Amino acid sequence: MYTIKFNFEQQGVSPVTLANVEPGQSLLEVALKNNIDLHHNCGGVCACSTCHLYVQKGSEFMEELSDKEEDFIDRAVNPRLVSRLGCQCLLNEDEGDIEVIVPDQTQFLGE
Ligand code: FES
Repeated sequence: MYTIKFNFEQQGVSPVTLANVEPGQSLLEVALKNNIDLHHNCGGVCACSTCHLYVQKGSEFMEELSDKEEDFIDRAVNPRLVSRLGCQCLLNEDEGDIEVIVPDQTQFLGE
């Protein structure tokens, strides 16, 4: 089980901490199940970059970055070294603390 904290770059959105998150699901799935607004234009198949987020803590608990994911991260807004695509961050069978930042999702309006 994991404890996952979602921080948000969008002003006025408070952080959300989720406890007892089961492994075997992606960060995108976790977000959507908990009403966290993370875009997913391609439906979670690593073919867009709208589920982009920054993994501040706990990246060792996730599936490693693939070349394809890296390609799409390059097209995201403001990619950083800790950038990942939420739909590709599958949580390993383990337990620990994870912390992510969701970029301002309003930047995709109109796409
Ligand atoms: Fe499109 Fe993750 S939802 S790459």
